Amino acid sequence: MSQMDSNFKKIAVIGAGTMGSGIAAQIANAGHEVMLLDLPARNAGDASPAERAIERLLASDPPQLMHKRNAARIITGTISDDFASLAECDWIIEAVVERLDIKKDLYRKLDATVGPDCIVSSNTSTIPIRLLVEDMPTAFRQRFAITHYFNPVRYMRLLELVRGTDTAGDVIDRLADFNDRVLGKGVVRCADTPGFLGNRVGVFALQVGIDEAMRCGLDIEQADALMGRPMGIPKTGVFGLYDLIGIDLMVDVVASLRNILPEGDAFHAVGGRNDMIMAMIEDGFTGDKGRGGFYMTGNDGAEMARPLTGKGAMLAAPRALDKTLPDAALRAATAAAAAEEKPPPARRPRAARELARGARGARGGELEGGRDEGRSAAERRGRRRHACRGPASCPSQCSCVMT
Ligand SMILES: NC(=O)c1ccc[n+]([C@@H]2O[C@H](COP(=O)([O-])OP(=O)(O)OC[C@H]3O[C@@H](n4cnc5c(N)ncnc54)[C@H](O)[C@@H]3O)[C@@H](O)[C@H]2O)c1
Repeated sequence: MSQMDSNFKKIAVIGAGTMGSGIAAQIANAGHEVMLLDLPARNAGDASPAERAIERLLASDPPQLMHKRNAARIITGTISDDFASLAECDWIIEAVVERLDIKKDLYRKLDATVGPDCIVSSNTSTIPIRLLVEDMPTAFRQRFAITHYFNPVRYMRLLELVRGTDTAGDVIDRLADFNDRVLGKGVVRCADTPGFLGNRVGVFALQVGIDEAMRCGLDIEQADALMGRPMGIPKTGVFGLYDLIGIDLMVDVVASLRNILPEGDAFHAVGGRNDMIMAMIEDGFTGDKGRGGFYMTGNDGAEMARPLTGKGAMLAAPRALDKTLPDAALRAATAAAAAEEKPPPARRPRAARELARGARGARGGELEGGRDEGRSAAERRGRRRHACRGPASCPSQCSCVMT
């Protein structure tokens, strides 16, 4: 494909929430004009959701716009006033709420409006193409794909690109090329399965984190200190990430996965209804996009955290954030990592060697968890240096199982 082939002449994003506004900003950052449509304002005279999205983009930190003047490339509108102008688009990105019924309704309206060559893609977090377009004519399905961006769009390089059974090859090639070359994304082609790659794992991990934090009576700072940098995932941890994604959106995402995943899937054991989260949404605490969430800023600018009560009806009053915990966890993890890098002592005392050998033998190959216990980093690295086929035949008697 030549470079010009994948360029789009007119792009629109429908849904001006966290993701739609971020996607529009990145398209504007790349020098393209983009339409950004959402519902009309609730009250006459109020700013529309798309107009408010521009205000949020201009105030975003870290900034989603590479320069504030890029906002001028985003043309805002509403689906009631501006739907007809979608007929001129050659790529429309749907980023409305994670509700199958709402998305399907929108596709039916789009089908009646857009031109025959227009590509439509969804930013859904969880819903496979086969469900999104099951009611749509073949011609629409051939021009439909999933482009799943991550939050915040400017900074998260990953783009999951999903092809449906009917999606035409040139549609996928064009989206892959444009997103890679123009928007700077690392495109990963995924199978059409619930949650694709990232969310199939990530949403499950988040739900386990929330359930376990509540079960163990942890504070959110403690939980995030554990499930953040020390585990090699972003420092937002679980609760900070919930705030970033949007707490209301997460409820829809979890409900969607529960609806789609087969009975017996491990996901059904986590992420049941959480009364505290439902009460937070009810009170407008939907995360960073709302009045705050698990973390928030008080009227005096003080950083606050919400105690985990697990009981929804009476949300506990937020209290001052304990900032020492994440730092302490990060320091401990950094110190542990530094210790791992140190070369091991030349030779351990004989008794220790005997003991270690005996312990390894007793665990017979050590396939189970904890097999690295008591070994130095250098020993673990050493396991990988030679082609070992298992404890019985290993020339180095390193006790590794496979390399
Ligand atoms: N928030 C995240 O971190 C994240 C990450 C990746 C993917 N997603 C997916 O992106 C999509 C949007 O998520 P979000 O976080 O931006 O949600 P959001 O709640 O912030 O925004 C959704 C927007 O859709 C609008 N909307 C609802 N119905 C509409 C309609 N019929 N027509 C036009 N606009 C309509 C709402 O007014 C709202 O502004 C969802 O499918 C979600 O699963 C979200």
